Amino acid sequence: MNKTITFRNMSVDDLDDVMAVEVNSFTIPWSREAFFNELTKNQFAQYLVVEVDQKVVGYCGVWIIVDEAHITNIALLPEYRGMKLGEALMAKVIELAREMGAMRITLEVRVSNERAQNLYRKFGFEEGAIRKQYYTDNMEDALIMWVNLK
Ligand SMILES: CC(C)(COP(=O)(O)OP(=O)(O)OC[C@H]1O[C@@H](n2cnc3c(N)ncnc32)[C@H](O)[C@@H]1OP(=O)(O)O)[C@@H](O)C(=O)NCCC(=O)NCCS
Repeated sequence: MNKTITFRNMSVDDLDDVMAVEVNSFTIPWSREAFFNELTKNQFAQYLVVEVDQKVVGYCGVWIIVDEAHITNIALLPEYRGMKLGEALMAKVIELAREMGAMRITLEVRVSNERAQNLYRKFGFEEGAIRKQYYTDNMEDALIMWVNLK
């Protein structure tokens, strides 16, 4: 792919693009207001976007609370999936969490979302508990995954 890939912090000016990613990725998308609050009011939140030729095509968020990080979400526009951008973005977020003192990262993922689970396993995430009926659209269970950072 002979294109320029950039990773940077998300700003409120990105929210139109981020919402396009969001509504094309999730059956229960976060609202624009939710992202706005994350960026402006949540002191624990860090959000990165990935750009291809200066177009925002994906994002990932993490809350870092003392030594524990929690990935809130990761998503790419459908036409940009399967090109290793998710993996590169995840690597950046893990690096950021580590730099900010995280010793462990957790996340929740739908039990049916094998693509995302495969991505997380590549970074050493292991399966933890199940949160029953966590997703309210279809009452699907969430798998909690975690990794200890070395
Ligand atoms: C999940 C998501 C972020 C992965 O990003 P991506 O750029 O498509 O993934 P990558 O190309 O970086 O692939 C990295 C790894 O993910 C896994 N993966 C990616 N696409 C896959 C597929 N179609 N089937 C199975 N595993 C897949 C593989 O382990 C892959 O590594 P490999 O190519 O060495 O096998 C992206 O597909 C997405 O936005 N999905 C919709 C939103 C979502 O489900 N987010 C997760 C919420 S918890």
